[in-house]
Amino acid sequence: MLVKDSWREKGYVDEPVPSDVDLKSEIRRMCKEKNAVILAHYYTDGEVQDIADFVGDSLALAQWSAKTDADIIVMCGVHFMGETNKILCPGKKVLVLDLNAGCSLADSCNADDLSKFIDEHPGHKVVSYVNTTAAVKALTDVVVTSSNAKLIIDSFPQDEKLIFGPDKNLGAYINSVTGRDMVLWNGGCHVHGQFSLEAILKLKEEHPGAKVLVHPECPAPIQKIADVIGSTAGLLNYSVKDDAEVFIVATESGILHEMRKASPDKTFIPAPPEATETIGCSCNECSFMKLNTMRKLYNTLKYEWPEIEVDKDVAEKAVRPIEKMLEISKSLKSAMSSK
Ligand code: 13P
Ligand code: SF4
Repeated sequence: MLVKDSWREKGYVDEPVPSDVDLKSEIRRMCKEKNAVILAHYYTDGEVQDIADFVGDSLALAQWSAKTDADIIVMCGVHFMGETNKILCPGKKVLVLDLNAGCSLADSCNADDLSKFIDEHPGHKVVSYVNTTAAVKALTDVVVTSSNAKLIIDSFPQDEKLIFGPDKNLGAYINSVTGRDMVLWNGGCHVHGQFSLEAILKLKEEHPGAKVLVHPECPAPIQKIADVIGSTAGLLNYSVKDDAEVFIVATESGILHEMRKASPDKTFIPAPPEATETIGCSCNECSFMKLNTMRKLYNTLKYEWPEIEVDKDVAEKAVRPIEKMLEISKSLKSAMSSK
């Protein structure tokens, strides 16, 4: 397939889809014909989650891609997730829907700066959150996700010196629950860093008995008022098992789709963000995740582009810390929803 220059410029296949095409049935037909499988993160739009073969958090998506026998993996999420799939499955074609779907957290840590930081902290092992580029993972001893960070940090001897990056809020949370003093990289996510404490407290007043669910990428004041702190899958599981009728959810609002499907009789309220129009985004949606649309999914499958490539030397180094994470996390029940 010849990739058009205009697609390269835009970062996705920008072709009109004829109005008589039934997107859902065509997407499923192409998956069957090409032995392709669609993975979606909980933060993507509901219709993208609904057509996917597997929906999950970062850990579940990595666990799944490590064992698929599909020829093509279509990752509806953000770029680092596609890279993780490619690193774990170098022989497979890994497609994403839009090369512009990055991650502000991954962008907050580049490999050259991390390399200098590591030199400034001799004798430290490096623990990186999965929301990082392949080049950062290549400098890392072990990768973690928010589902398994505590388990993996606990696997190090208590006196082991550790650097943790790039999310400072997750790092501080793990320090507090493990009693460690990891050196933290000063990075963060633009969505999780923006929730309004005042607005959440007001919602709590309006809904006595509501439980507050918080992702560990949120700052400490938001974590302090949480009834539970967990990964997207952890928060989803809690909302299913807990008896409360109302939940205030402080993570990307895409997760509410799965929460409402799993517990249709419960009420889920997205935690409001601060009014921060001046920095360009004042929403509880990840603009990168929302670049995954049904039309792009159709075109990506049809033209088998954009394809993720990872430099061979980088991939050879990056695969080790990811596999180490998967090995340590074997005991964790996969939080993936498969259909
Ligand atoms: P999870 O590990 O909970 O899937 O989080 C991924 C992410 O991007 C959080 O912002
Ligand atoms: Fe990255 Fe934040 Fe979007 Fe998650 S929500 S993918 S951390 S920008």
